Amino acid sequence: MQQTISFVLDGKIQTLTFNETFGPTTTVLNFLRKSAEHKGVKEGCAEGDCGACTVVIGELNTDNKITYKAMDSCLVFLPMIHGKQLITVENLKQQKGVTEVLHPVQQEMVDCNGSQCGYCTPGIIMSMFSLYKNENNPAKESIDDALTGNLCRCTGYKPIIEATAKACVNNGEDHFVRNEKQIVELLSQIKDSTNSIGINTATQKYYQPKTKAEAFEMRNKMQDSVLVGGATDVALRVTKRHEVLKEIIDLSNIEELKKCTITDYVIKFGAGMSLEEVRKISRNELSALHETLSVFGSRQIRTLATFGGNLGSGSPIGDTLPILMAYDAEIKLQGVDGDRVVKMNNFILGYRQTDRKPNEIITSIIINKPSTNTIVKFYKVSKRKDLDISTVSAGFSVTLDKNKVSGITLAYGGMAATTKRATEAEVFLMANEWTRENIEQAMPMIEKAFTPISDARSGAEFRSVVAKNLLMKFWSETSNQK
Ligand SMILES: Cc1cc2nc3c(=O)[nH]c(=O)nc-3n(C[C@H](O)[C@H](O)[C@H](O)COP(=O)(O)OP(=O)(O)OC[C@H]3O[C@@H](n4cnc5c(N)ncnc54)[C@H](O)[C@@H]3O)c2cc1C
Ligand code: FES
Ligand code: FES
Repeated sequence: MQQTISFVLDGKIQTLTFNETFGPTTTVLNFLRKSAEHKGVKEGCAEGDCGACTVVIGELNTDNKITYKAMDSCLVFLPMIHGKQLITVENLKQQKGVTEVLHPVQQEMVDCNGSQCGYCTPGIIMSMFSLYKNENNPAKESIDDALTGNLCRCTGYKPIIEATAKACVNNGEDHFVRNEKQIVELLSQIKDSTNSIGINTATQKYYQPKTKAEAFEMRNKMQDSVLVGGATDVALRVTKRHEVLKEIIDLSNIEELKKCTITDYVIKFGAGMSLEEVRKISRNELSALHETLSVFGSRQIRTLATFGGNLGSGSPIGDTLPILMAYDAEIKLQGVDGDRVVKMNNFILGYRQTDRKPNEIITSIIINKPSTNTIVKFYKVSKRKDLDISTVSAGFSVTLDKNKVSGITLAYGGMAATTKRATEAEVFLMANEWTRENIEQAMPMIEKAFTPISDARSGAEFRSVVAKNLLMKFWSETSNQK
């Protein structure tokens, strides 16, 4: 196992040895802030909410090209960029003789007056740059989504959106395209010489296996270690609670966990797939999952966060949990003792407790495509639409035979210590007509099923009212469809 990591920065391979200055859970943000050449990146919140720390990570893809992704560098541990290209705002301009030429996204930001105090600007530029590299003439919806993870408090978004629309018209053409061959060579060089990573410092052990088999062995030996998928939950333990994580197994470099298989009836998602990837794949055939992920965090968060990580946290407000119940999904768990598949409906055992054994890892999420007479929907009620945690969420599915219910799931998040189904209402509605009268009779059963808490997001009463009204909303959106 190698003790160092390598990545490309400023057109060169940088190799980093861990010491007192940089530990394995040092974030990319803190690493960059220590470098005189990369002070453009800013810390606003250190918890993924403001986007001031946005950088772009270039990854070698299977076509030997580079894929560019915007990420919040405050949530990325240094070993997670091993074998990748780290691009900061300083890398965007070009030196032509004595003249500095701005990148098209920078130039449009200047021309459209998209910046005032400038604190948020480098992060916004990096989100714009990522969009520039990935979409030509993006729709307004896509521009909004690309900027959702960036807060600007003084300019206002209109000029920023205008600058983005004006800049993203060149099919991604820029000096990164012209230098791509050279960067691909450098990244391939790192890839070819890379083993799994094992970093031992005085206080921490950080492992980054390359295969599932290695991960299972390591997990079996270190059952108290912290597993890392995308670190969007785990990193906050470091940045906010200042915990020293003693043993970490980082799953982010295992390609086998990022594979998706699609057949006529089933979609099997690797647990290491990013939620942004899952969002794209689910658009047509699992539209409710697509909707769930369209209001999940921001593009920067979804690019990092994994499917396995959202399930692994077992959070009562984890957005994918109720919808996976509604799809009657299955979770594949693997370890040195073998494989098993658990129904999502049996996976959550208690507050942040799942059926995963200490030596197991979630390796995939299996979803049957719904039959034509089944309707699945997701609802999220939060203080604001974007980049917010659910106050109440719901994953509902109903199967109708003529107008009679032959299958129903009403799963709620934010209403109890776990994601929980309203079973009494389900039993009542089952085999009954899908009518307003029956829904009205079921609504008090929803209220009775939960004793929600009051917290910063809402009072208990609001939660109860919302939960039962969501059932009526579901009925009103589905009653005329079959
Ligand atoms: C700004 C911000 C916005 C957010 N918005 C939302 C939101 O809208 N909805 C929402 O639900 N969540 C949200 N979250 C929470 C978080 O992003 C999600 O829970 C995310 O899916 C976690 O995935 P991850 O891969 O980053 O997990 P990690 O942080 O890597 O891990 C989370 C937990 O899962 C475990 N784990 C990871 N991978 C595996 C695996 N393969 N097998 C077993 N256990 C594993 C880890 O040990 C850890 O306990 C947000 C977080 C932030 C910072
Ligand atoms: S510093 Fe706010 S998202 Fe990273
Ligand atoms: S320009 Fe001041 S916060 Fe955005």
